[in-house]
Amino acid sequence: MKETAKAAVLVAPGKFEMREFPIPPIGDDEMLIKVEGCGVCGTDGHEYKRDPFNLCPVVLGHEGSGEIVKLGKNITKDSAGVPVKLGDKIVTCVIPCGHCDACRNTPARTNLCENCGVYGLFPDDDTHLNGYYAEYLKIRPNSTFFNVTGLSLDQRMLIEPAAVAVHAVERAKTTGLLNFNTKVLVQGCGPIGLMVLAVLRTLGIDKIIAVDGNDNRLELAKEMGATATFNFTKYASFDDMLAEIRKESDGLGAGFVFQCTGVPAAAANAWKMVRRGGGLCEVGFFLPSGTCTIDPHYDLCNKEVTAVGSWVYSPQDYPTAFAFLRRAAGIGLPMEKLVTHHIPLDRIQEALEVNVNMQGIKVAVIVD
Ligand SMILES: NC(=O)c1ccc[n+]([C@@H]2O[C@H](COP(=O)([O-])OP(=O)(O)OC[C@H]3O[C@@H](n4cnc5c(N)ncnc54)[C@H](O)[C@@H]3O)[C@@H](O)[C@H]2O)c1
Ligand SMILES: [Zn+2]
Ligand SMILES: [Zn+2]
Repeated sequence: MKETAKAAVLVAPGKFEMREFPIPPIGDDEMLIKVEGCGVCGTDGHEYKRDPFNLCPVVLGHEGSGEIVKLGKNITKDSAGVPVKLGDKIVTCVIPCGHCDACRNTPARTNLCENCGVYGLFPDDDTHLNGYYAEYLKIRPNSTFFNVTGLSLDQRMLIEPAAVAVHAVERAKTTGLLNFNTKVLVQGCGPIGLMVLAVLRTLGIDKIIAVDGNDNRLELAKEMGATATFNFTKYASFDDMLAEIRKESDGLGAGFVFQCTGVPAAAANAWKMVRRGGGLCEVGFFLPSGTCTIDPHYDLCNKEVTAVGSWVYSPQDYPTAFAFLRRAAGIGLPMEKLVTHHIPLDRIQEALEVNVNMQGIKVAVIVD
């Protein structure tokens, strides 16, 4: 067993350094994971560009998976009660604090925990190995994690974004507006929007309009089952596109809209595409990216729109995400096409550049 581990440390915006850290001792309630790979998320892209969470120096990477190589003796089961042993493959989920209002009073909504931890978004400490862009990751006590042995590495790296989409659709379902015949519009076809589209398909919803500015992404949206696609860059104005979208939705607009971009103008436009009596789920603003204006009369009151926000996921969403991924494969959705790049850890800078320049869909950092 090695005594040190390589980690890609983001030392300043735009700058990674490979550093070697001692592999820490593992206590009875801890684990050591040999990382195999980790997806690059838009959040990593933002951290890479401008460090909005003020984390530098930091070991990023939160969409990862790897193998248990050291197992504290008190850990026998994962967060779903499935037994774990050395050699099993795992993914981690959020680490709720257990004592804030959300943790104490709404245990089904620990995604709203005030002090929620996530591997790959922790400030640096003496352990250093706190994110998946490294050879090893130390799992601390009271973490949530799941045994996903048997799934391919690409499948395991898609679980975290799948959980975001599953949670968004669960939130949307609380409005009572998602039915077999609902015309749904997905705005933004990055990994999150495409995953939302796939979740909708697995639920049997098959009238889906996809909107994006990138034809490659819209092409994949079609392969995922979008019945109509709109490239907003090809219209002189949003109103021109809106008129076409209405034609595509019985002259009324969409019964439900998922807003999956981090763009304020898009967030405002989303309301215009909802039909009277329809619904909207805002997923796209994990980071503050600016504000937008809506017209409370036309966009909300007069249409009686039911809107929900969606914030990451709770540990309970993970088993649902596994079931979704199985079902997606079962109905032949091309999930494997979501991972477009596999780039070794030594070339992490390149992986982040591909992500921020939107050259692929999901970029995976591979650790040997
Ligand atoms: N709510 C949450 O918990 C949560 C979790 C993860 C990510 N997110 C957020 O979701 C968003 C989407 O994530 P992603 O990884 O798919 O990002 P992404 O940047 O890859 O995808 C966004 C897509 O939106 C498209 N877009 C931009 N402007 C548009 C417009 N005016 N109309 C239509 N499409 C437009 C882009 O072309 C792009 O394909 C990000 O902003 C991310 O921060 C939210
Ligand atoms: Zn992410
Ligand atoms: Zn809490």
